[in-house]
Amino acid sequence: MTVEPAETIIIRHACDGEHVGLTELVMRSVQCTWGYPDEFMNWNPEDITIEPEHITEMITNVLEVDGRLAGVYVLRGEAPEMELSRMMIAPEKTRLGLGRLLWNHMVETARQHGVRELTIDSDPNAEGFYQRMGAVTIGAHDWSPPMMPGWHVKIMKYQIR
Ligand SMILES: CC(C)(COP(=O)(O)OP(=O)(O)OC[C@H]1O[C@@H](n2cnc3c(N)ncnc32)[C@H](O)[C@@H]1OP(=O)(O)O)[C@@H](O)C(=O)NCCC(=O)NCCS
Repeated sequence: MTVEPAETIIIRHACDGEHVGLTELVMRSVQCTWGYPDEFMNWNPEDITIEPEHITEMITNVLEVDGRLAGVYVLRGEAPEMELSRMMIAPEKTRLGLGRLLWNHMVETARQHGVRELTIDSDPNAEGFYQRMGAVTIGAHDWSPPMMPGWHVKIMKYQIR
């Protein structure tokens, strides 16, 4: 399945001041894609917001479909190892190939910065996507939110050749 051929898709650097719209996108993506309750979304919001520093000090790129924000990723750290600290597609646009498009852009961007290894702290529901992209699960964090015991963030690695 793909997006409609008539749709225009671009990937570009996030602009200063765009953190508010991007945070809204990320919150909507995480909650609506996985159906998480409000208690979970309010539990550790700093883990999923986009702050101005993500745009000014890290590599934050956005995907637009027909001029509307539909995806974002953030790369944090320094080569040769960086962390993929955000990667989201708007919930109404998932399973159309946009995640793979954004992933490929992210890998190429990381490669151009001299990155050899990416670390991903993955939502357990997104683990299958990252595995499909070639990432490998090496463990899981031992903490879980009080309202969702058994939910554990997966630790994943991806080698860039
Ligand atoms: C994870 C996410 C980015 C995937 O984006 P997407 O646009 O749906 O991905 P694509 O349509 O490009 O899928 C690419 C491949 O991964 C597979 N895939 C996508 N989501 C998957 C999932 N949750 N589990 C297993 N496989 C998945 C697709 O079937 C496709 O496989 P194919 O190559 O055989 O066709 C998206 O679901 C999302 O934004 N989720 C909410 C936010 C989130 O949790 N992000 C990760 C934070 S760590």
